[in-house]
Amino acid sequence: MNQTEMFEAIRRLKEEKNAVILAHYYQEGPVQDVADYTGDSLYLSQVAASTDADIIVFAGVHFMAETAKILSPEKTVLLPVAEAGCPMADMVTEVRLEQYRKKHPDRVVVCYVNSTARVKALSDVCVTSSNAEKIIKHYKDQKLLYVPDKNLGAYMKYKYDLDMDLWPGFCCVHNDLTMDDVRTMKAKYPSAQLIIHPEAKLELLQEADYVGSTKGLLEYTINSDHDEFIVGTEDGILHTMKKHSPNKTFHILNSGLKCYDMKLTHLEDVYLALKHNQFEVTVPDDIREKAFQALDKMLSLS
Ligand code: 13P
Ligand code: SF4
Repeated sequence: MNQTEMFEAIRRLKEEKNAVILAHYYQEGPVQDVADYTGDSLYLSQVAASTDADIIVFAGVHFMAETAKILSPEKTVLLPVAEAGCPMADMVTEVRLEQYRKKHPDRVVVCYVNSTARVKALSDVCVTSSNAEKIIKHYKDQKLLYVPDKNLGAYMKYKYDLDMDLWPGFCCVHNDLTMDDVRTMKAKYPSAQLIIHPEAKLELLQEADYVGSTKGLLEYTINSDHDEFIVGTEDGILHTMKKHSPNKTFHILNSGLKCYDMKLTHLEDVYLALKHNQFEVTVPDDIREKAFQALDKMLSLS
C-alpha cells in the first residue's frame, strides 16, 4: 500500500471500529497527519478522558497509552508498537519510591506524567510539562518530592524557591543538550529566538527566550512576531511547527534530538494496530484506581 492507500485503509478501519487515533507531537509526520488528535501529553490525556470512541489508538509511548487506559478504563487502548517505552519513566521504580515515602512521610509526591501506573499510584498528584507550574504553585508551601525528571524539577525549584527533593531521572533526549549546542546555534543564527522544553538542563533553560511544553513551544512559534527559531526539543515537533507557520524558519538545537521510542511507530503500525486490535494496554484495577486519583487531581487543578 502506498501512503494514500494506507490513509484510506486506516480511515475505513477507524469508522468500522469506532476508533480514534491520538498522536504525540514527537511522532513522525505521516503518523501525526493520520491522527484525529495531535498534541502534548496533557491535551492527549484530556482527549482520552472525554472521547466516546470504543477504541483509542495511542501513537506515542507506553506511559501515554497507560494514562489513557487509567482515565478511560472502559475503552480498549492500543499502543501500535508494544516496545515503545520511555526510558525516563523507568528511572523510578515502585519499590524505591515506597522506600522513599516511608523515610519521608511528610513530603507530597508530585509525579511527572512520564511515569508508570505503579509510580502514579504511589503519588499524590501528577503534572505534565504544560501544567507543572500551575500545579506546583498550588503546593509551593509544602515539602515536596518531584519524580522522575530532575531537570524539570530543578527548573520549578529555581523558579519558585521550593523545598523540593528531586529524583535523579532524566530524559535521555533533552538531557544530552549542552551549553555548547546553545552557543554554536546562537552564533550561527543570531536573530533566532531560542525555545526549549523544560526537560533540558537548567543552565540551558536560563538562556532561552521561551521555555515550555511541546504545545507551549508550538503556540509560541505561532503567536510570536519573530520568524526564526532554534528549537530545543524532539524534532517531530518541527513537522507541526512548519505546517502552522510555513513562512517561518526553524533550526533544531541539535540534530540528535530524536526520541528513539517515539520514532518506533510508523503508519503501517497504526494500520496493523487497528486491523488486529494490537497491542492492548491494560492496568490492574487496584493500581488503576490509585493512579486515577493522582491524574484526576491533576486534571482538576489544570
Ligand atoms: P509534553 O508533550 O507534555 O511537552 O511532553 C514531552 C515528552 O517528553 C513526552 O514524552
Ligand atoms: Fe521519554 Fe524523553 Fe522520549 Fe519523551 S522524549 S518519551 S521523556 S525519552
